[in-house]
Amino acid sequence: MNYQFALIGFPIKHSLSPWIHEQFLKKSGLNGTYSIIEIDPNEPLDETVRELKNSQINGFNVTVPYKKRIIPYLDELDEQAMEIGAVNTVVNRNGKWIGYNTDGSGYVRAFENKYPGIISNPKYKILLIGAGGAARGIYYALTAAGCQRIDIANRTKSSAEEIASLKKDSTKTSLLTIEKAEAAFDYYDIVIQTTSVGMKPYHEKCIVNIDRVKAGSVVSDIVYQPIKTAFLQQAEQLGARIHYGHTMLLYQAQYAFEIWTNHYVSIDEMDNELREILE
Ligand code: ATR
Repeated sequence: MNYQFALIGFPIKHSLSPWIHEQFLKKSGLNGTYSIIEIDPNEPLDETVRELKNSQINGFNVTVPYKKRIIPYLDELDEQAMEIGAVNTVVNRNGKWIGYNTDGSGYVRAFENKYPGIISNPKYKILLIGAGGAARGIYYALTAAGCQRIDIANRTKSSAEEIASLKKDSTKTSLLTIEKAEAAFDYYDIVIQTTSVGMKPYHEKCIVNIDRVKAGSVVSDIVYQPIKTAFLQQAEQLGARIHYGHTMLLYQAQYAFEIWTNHYVSIDEMDNELREILE
């Protein structure tokens, strides 16, 4: 078997996914390739999809701006992808295309790996900052993991409301302004920054003032360029434990690779290797 995988999106020339999946192939002793298919957002998606359907592709990842746009071309959607309304992984099962979303579950896996037993503990309170696509996937995965208190702080209330509508009965969610969140920071045991604020080249920026962060809480940022964002630096200086964004990238890929191949590959030293690539 010679697996064929790909990534579709734009812009993706500098994507780290080929490196990650090539490592997975090597580690699991499988043969295969992972290619980049950059599609200009002004071009119709139809043609690329037609080519992929005629190819021997076993599976592909989907990134910005196609995570929603790919859905009409799929034969089936996994429940999580359906609820989130976005797909980042497609598997070809005997000619049928099935869409999954491994972003949120990848986040939860990464967190569990670094800080076992914390995320789903009902006594811990979680604050999610931001209400875009990434926040939506993470919120859904957190509710699925059994988290009981997940508040959302966002600049625009309506986006936060949309995410909160994914709520499971056992989850409690309040919506906060950024200012309210700043004042209540010490209430939370886990804080997850899900916006792109802080990403290079604006890396000195921090979306909220975190002076009131609780010592010993876990502060997490999904931005991974720079690897230690201003948000994480400040959190660490104030006595919080930190959780890096690049781990989500690794674990969402690990889960996608499992869907495609049924092989579980341990991340192990890839965490440090990816950090070195990013630093
Ligand atoms: P993605 O889908 O990758 O998560 P997105 O949909 O652009 O990205 O979402 C970005 C999130 O970051 C949104 O919650 C956005 O807030 P709004 O809903 O108010 O637009 C938030 N965000 C981005 N830049 C921001 C900024 N400078 N200040 C505050 N929030 C910001």
